Amino acid sequence: MSLSPEREPLVLLVGAHRELKRHLHALVRAGRLLVLGRGDLSLATQISRALRFLAVDMPLHARDEEESLLPRLRAKLKDAQSHFAYLLEHIEKDHAELAQLHTQFDQTARKLVARIPFEGHPARKDLEPDLKLFRGQANELFNIYASHMLVEERDIFPALSIIFTPAEREDIARELAERRGYALA
Ligand SMILES: [Fe+2]
Ligand SMILES: [Fe+2]
Repeated sequence: MSLSPEREPLVLLVGAHRELKRHLHALVRAGRLLVLGRGDLSLATQISRALRFLAVDMPLHARDEEESLLPRLRAKLKDAQSHFAYLLEHIEKDHAELAQLHTQFDQTARKLVARIPFEGHPARKDLEPDLKLFRGQANELFNIYASHMLVEERDIFPALSIIFTPAEREDIARELAERRGYALA
């Protein structure tokens, strides 16, 4: 039985991934435009939005997976040494690595944004060395998240509808909502 979208954890988790992908694309694109000398203040807004998403929404999403999803999946595991069990562990390690990268990137990106003038197109030389660091870290985040989300969407999330009953899935969705301060109707 399928549930309404707001009660289906798969829909909520994949929705967060989509939004993350949008922000990561915007960051990589912003770096490219700034290198080309075609950046302007609108990029500062896009970068700030992405930073906010990484700082506020991504820790919640990581908690959704670590606190609401992984323990339930582990409770159903028959073999603690299986490839699936290994993947669950791998996901948590990625989260720890990504949280560190977020902090570094946040500092770099804030310095870069402060260098973007209110008017006109900043020259590349006026943005260095922060721009080089920004592009390197944005690419690193993009690449790690791409493989992380691939594993989750290909190997982990499909198990949701196989392993959990609709009532269990609704319980998970309720926790995700409560984590964000609202209740499921
Ligand atoms: Fe994750
Ligand atoms: Fe995820």
